[in-house]
Amino acid sequence: MQKVGVVGCGLMGSGIAEVSARAGLDVVVVETGRAAIDAGRERLTASLERAERKGKVASAAEVLDRITLTGSLEDLADRDLVVEAIVEDEAAKVALFRRLDDVVVSPEALLASNTSSIPIMKIATATKRPTHVLGIHFFNPVPVLPLVELVPSLLTLDETTDRAAEFVGTALGKHAIRSKDRAGFVVNALLIPFILAAIRMLESGFAERDDIDEGLVRGAAHPQGPLALADLIGLDTTRAVAESLYEEFKEPLYAPPPLLNRMVDAGLLGRKTGRGFYTYA
Ligand code: NAI
Repeated sequence: MQKVGVVGCGLMGSGIAEVSARAGLDVVVVETGRAAIDAGRERLTASLERAERKGKVASAAEVLDRITLTGSLEDLADRDLVVEAIVEDEAAKVALFRRLDDVVVSPEALLASNTSSIPIMKIATATKRPTHVLGIHFFNPVPVLPLVELVPSLLTLDETTDRAAEFVGTALGKHAIRSKDRAGFVVNALLIPFILAAIRMLESGFAERDDIDEGLVRGAAHPQGPLALADLIGLDTTRAVAESLYEEFKEPLYAPPPLLNRMVDAGLLGRKTGRGFYTYA
């Protein structure tokens, strides 16, 4: 797979575009309009320049040259693989996959979603090629974290999953684990209830923010506490994943607590908006 497409150039899409271009692949990234394209380019440039300063890439400019940012989905027509990384909203993803199915020409091309929690089957059945649709779920920050979850639906061909494994393992040098098509897959099904429990602990006055996070950092050797992690993931995404898990399993431990809902209502989404459980410069 030489020609990769990415839809969405936010936190995750920019990371997926970056690691693909760093692997020498030709990348086309689609965003919603001028402002989003400019923001995406800035994100990519800042990350690649950081990698260059650290000696992780020889030339940021050379990698950026392999990435084309566009506002037109039609520019994905010749892609071998398209990875979708737009907002975590089922209706938006279904509408997008319907269009991708029309746009991407090769019947052998793979259509993948980076969704954290939406069943792959819902997306796959929006296309006429569900055998070639699967979840390729990266972790944030994509250039740093080595894990990818591969999520075939009941209709995905084994060959599709094997080709995706080849892409993430051989081309990107990442480690893949496989999960059945269940909301949250492996990692978020374990991680999100843990983060929600920390938010409930804060909300109920059981403990303060820093005590909760320090407890897990110093007492359980986590690299960061659950509240800092929620800020990193984005509180909107955290809530969306919780809602998908709750919808699927109907277990109270997956229900988003009111504090999380109010923070999302207020636009306090974590690092990406400068304020969440912490404030960022
Ligand atoms: P984000 O909000 O940073 O980025 C989403 C981007 O998609 C925005 O730039 C938006 O303009 C763009 N977009 C929305 N609709 C579009 C469309 N129709 N066409 C083209 N672009 C469109 O969100 P983030 O965090 O990057 O999440 C993206 C996906 O990745 C979600 O499905 C999320 O669940 C998943 N994910 C998120 C992780 C995280 O830690 N934030 C980790 C792993 C997966």
